[in-house]
Amino acid sequence: MLQHKGVTPIEQAQNKDDSSTATGNKIKKNKKQYAMKNYVIESLPDYFKQYKKSIKNPKKFWDKIADENFVWYQRWEKVVNYDMHEAKIEWFINAKLNITKNCIDRHLAQRGNKTAIIWEPNDPNEAAQHITYQDLYDRVGKMSNVLRAQGIEKGDRVTIYLPMIPELAVAMLACARIGAVHSVVFAGFSASAVASRINDSGSKVVITSDGSYRGNKTLDLKSIVDDALTKATGVGKVLVVKHTNNEVKIQEGRDLWLQPLLDDAPIENIPTIMDAEDPLYILYTSGSTGKPKGMLHTCAGYMVYIGYTFKNVFNYKENDIYWCTADIGWVTGHSYILYGPLINGATTVIFEGVPTYPEPDRFWSVIEKHKVTQFYTAPTAIRSLAKETTEWVEKHDLSSLKVIGSVGEPINDEAWHWYNDHVGKKKCPIVDTWWQTETGGIMISPLPFVTPTKPTYATLPIPGIQPVLMDEKRNEITGNQVDGNLCIRFPWPGIARTIWGDHQRYKDTYFSAFPGKYFTGDGALRDEVGYYRITGRVDDVIIVSGHNLGTAPIEDSINEHPAVAESAIVGYPHDIKGNALYGFVILKDVGESRDRDNLRKEINQLIADQIGPIAKLDKIQFVAGLPKTRSGKIMRRILRKIAEGDFNNFGDTTTLLDPDVVEAIKNERIG
Ligand code: WTA
Repeated sequence: MLQHKGVTPIEQAQNKDDSSTATGNKIKKNKKQYAMKNYVIESLPDYFKQYKKSIKNPKKFWDKIADENFVWYQRWEKVVNYDMHEAKIEWFINAKLNITKNCIDRHLAQRGNKTAIIWEPNDPNEAAQHITYQDLYDRVGKMSNVLRAQGIEKGDRVTIYLPMIPELAVAMLACARIGAVHSVVFAGFSASAVASRINDSGSKVVITSDGSYRGNKTLDLKSIVDDALTKATGVGKVLVVKHTNNEVKIQEGRDLWLQPLLDDAPIENIPTIMDAEDPLYILYTSGSTGKPKGMLHTCAGYMVYIGYTFKNVFNYKENDIYWCTADIGWVTGHSYILYGPLINGATTVIFEGVPTYPEPDRFWSVIEKHKVTQFYTAPTAIRSLAKETTEWVEKHDLSSLKVIGSVGEPINDEAWHWYNDHVGKKKCPIVDTWWQTETGGIMISPLPFVTPTKPTYATLPIPGIQPVLMDEKRNEITGNQVDGNLCIRFPWPGIARTIWGDHQRYKDTYFSAFPGKYFTGDGALRDEVGYYRITGRVDDVIIVSGHNLGTAPIEDSINEHPAVAESAIVGYPHDIKGNALYGFVILKDVGESRDRDNLRKEINQLIADQIGPIAKLDKIQFVAGLPKTRSGKIMRRILRKIAEGDFNNFGDTTTLLDPDVVEAIKNERIG
């Protein structure tokens, strides 16, 4: 009968409350409501056993994890298809699913009243919100229906430009529910950056708010979107969350306040059936050209990988309260504030504010207030809080903590020890997690209570991950106590599948330097026991305060200044930010009479307008020439050494066209 009505077995499963009985998928319902229950690595021998298994037979390894921990409308026909030379990777071929069923619906029976999200506002005097799984279901259902009513269909792109408020999580999940592709743009990016991301993704709708709070500052996000939309095309609707009550301009026919639409929308929403390889989201990251690089993640592999790594890296237990302080606008927030915790039925904290507001103990006070058990932050935050007197930490009861984590950049020895001594009180393992926007999830990290930690080392690969070190001649460096370019040998389910709209660039950037392998762009060393330590980027990306910045887009912005002929940016070590930016700028007219400090301000303003304040330069030196090779390539290595103040280790300078240029730059270095 149903067949006659055109309802397929998959759609039948879709309409059921719980789809664990889907076609060919005989999995015990109970087990699936407790994702990863039997997949927690508990000891070092167990880790080695699992790791071995995962390498010997990756297909079997991931097949079992996917099978036993997730709800599917239809099972896959094959675990993986890949060609690392062509950069073609697919996981769980022909499986059908919706990630939001795995993040929300399946938890309702057992955890309907459990808190899914604790929202801690910027202002500590405002009450925190506790959003249960049932509330989340209702809110996501309404938002999904609003988006559908606005004409958003499966495959359409939606740009989300919101502060760290619950609507951000709800909007992302609603997109995923109806099969739309979310492109979250960090709410610190400028109008030009928003515009280029809207254009590149081809978004039809933008979701934003009247404003955002950061400490005692308010930022008018809506006017940034208005400005962006003077440069971007194709956006039909802007949905606006009322948050700060800033006065905003509403453009008739385009802009709509979101709340009245939500009030009128029904809750029930049947999720769209997604293919395993349908796009889930685009997230922009920095690259070596000015064009934004939209990493595309797909549904099934991402879900499986994030679910597995969250559970194991944070050792999440049913009543734990997990807090990751990243912004959802970065991949850390996508994977380990939103998807990873929710897949596991966890309670995840979303914090709107900043670590130093109202006082530099906000992190510690939030941990105490919500009895946080897992705390995940960035080295730059640790370094800046370590500068304050330890009384700020000692004032608070941090005894709820079990595991503390670090992400985004190498954690230096001093910061590691401060974190260990004052936050973890020497009893919480530090998980120093190495991974990338491109990898989707954590790749190398200690497992708490399993892997003995070592300061500054990300230690061992997650099961399924095969790191290799390669030399400049493309040979694999075997053995221990060696260093080289970090590559990954075999695909894993969470890897990005392409760069949105530019597969050739994806292939060139990640799969051509070391054919047959994924190249991370990072250097690493392997110690005597096989532990990995990430030494930093080996390409033109600089990590400042944990944010990836490409040198090319910054140089492009500087070069737009009418007085500038050419520029080169390098990073140099900075106590708090990890790296800071040093710009070498050639002016068009050597006799340029304008005040140099004004020029510096104008250049930084240009960068703030084009990219965002995070990319402003700390030092700008005006130079007559740049060190170039005979073929015209800038020798950044030399500039890096000059910026660091190290004049003795320039390395091979035989290809340098004009050595006098270097002397001149050295003499006028800004200390
Ligand atoms: C760096 C952030 C050392 C690395 C998840 C990588 C790290 C880049 C670590 C990706 C770590 C991230 N130790 N370096 N634990 N984690 N990195 O895409 O250079 O924002 O390539 O992803 O951050 O930054 P992305």
